[in-house]
Amino acid sequence: MSLFWRIFVLDALGLVVAAALLLGPVTVSTPILPAEVLVVLAGLAALLAVNAVVLRVGLAPLGRLGRAMADADLLRPGARAVVAGPVETAELITTYNAMLDRLEAERAASAAGALSAQERERHRVARELHDEVGQTLTAVLLQLKRVADRAPEDLREELGLAQESTRSGLDEIRRIARRLRPGVLDELGLVSALRSLAAEFTTHGLTVRHDLRAGLPALTEETELVLYRVAQEALTNTARHSGADRAELRLRPVGDGVELLVRDNGTGLGARAGEGAGIRGMRERALLIGAVLTVSSGAGGSGSGADVRLLTRAAAVATARAATTGVPASPGGLR
Ligand SMILES: Nc1ncnc2c1ncn2[C@@H]1O[C@H](COP(=O)(O)OP(=O)(O)O)[C@@H](O)[C@H]1O
Ligand SMILES: [Mg+2]
Repeated sequence: MSLFWRIFVLDALGLVVAAALLLGPVTVSTPILPAEVLVVLAGLAALLAVNAVVLRVGLAPLGRLGRAMADADLLRPGARAVVAGPVETAELITTYNAMLDRLEAERAASAAGALSAQERERHRVARELHDEVGQTLTAVLLQLKRVADRAPEDLREELGLAQESTRSGLDEIRRIARRLRPGVLDELGLVSALRSLAAEFTTHGLTVRHDLRAGLPALTEETELVLYRVAQEALTNTARHSGADRAELRLRPVGDGVELLVRDNGTGLGARAGEGAGIRGMRERALLIGAVLTVSSGAGGSGSGADVRLLTRAAAVATARAATTGVPASPGGLR
């Protein structure tokens, strides 16, 4: 029944009963007698109480809808308000849910467009760095070597230094190009790319261990790139924010998919830390391939590090199934 009819019928019922009582057994004298005051007040209280209950029950779904709207987050799609309550409210909730469907689809499409444009641009910059600047520097290096071979003794040392600087510039450019475009991903595959990522982030203060299991299912190029970029951002955050001295990069098969985990032993996320462009970017990328990303502080509470976990769609399905049946999605849990 619609909210209008609920309230109208209830009020009409109350008024009809009151009128019937007044026309029938109940009399109101002038001036009113104490016993009559009691009857009128009791009738009024009953009417108000029933009215309050009907309104409370009728409006509750609107309150729930308000909370669902406040909590809505397009980066965590799929959450929908429960359709309940009187007809108008149910219609409103259904419309709102349909609007969310549309917004999520549009958001996914525009994020996919933006991210692939970004990848293309990175690819282009990496290629130009490698092919243009890299070639020029290589030529300079060769020239320097030729000159050094023929130069008088007293100039050789300085020319050697110039060669050294050019060489390290060349290395730097190769490193930047590699970071922009994980060429190893195309050449050697995901596991090697992740292994070299772990090596790249291992410095004096931070040791990155990797545990990259064999027997991974075949992954699409897009999925591999998402896994690589998420690992890259998570390790960047570990190096930049966590103060950790140890981190782990794990990749293992789960169901028909894979699970990527980057865990450090640093300060953890802390309550005040909001999600910046980095974590939002990871969420966008995860959404692209329908994967589930969780970013959390380690199991031991604050100070026990941060976990970034990505389950590809098939792995998330397997994990959800395991949670309901009690059978682990893959042998040997992480903890
Ligand atoms: N591994 C981590 N350890 C501790 N804090 C982290 C970690 N990763 C992220 N954070 C916190 O979360 C915030 C948001 O991270 P992010 O979205 O990547 O933005 P940014 O790195 O640009 O600050 C960081 O500023 C930091 O405070
Ligand atoms: Mg970051």
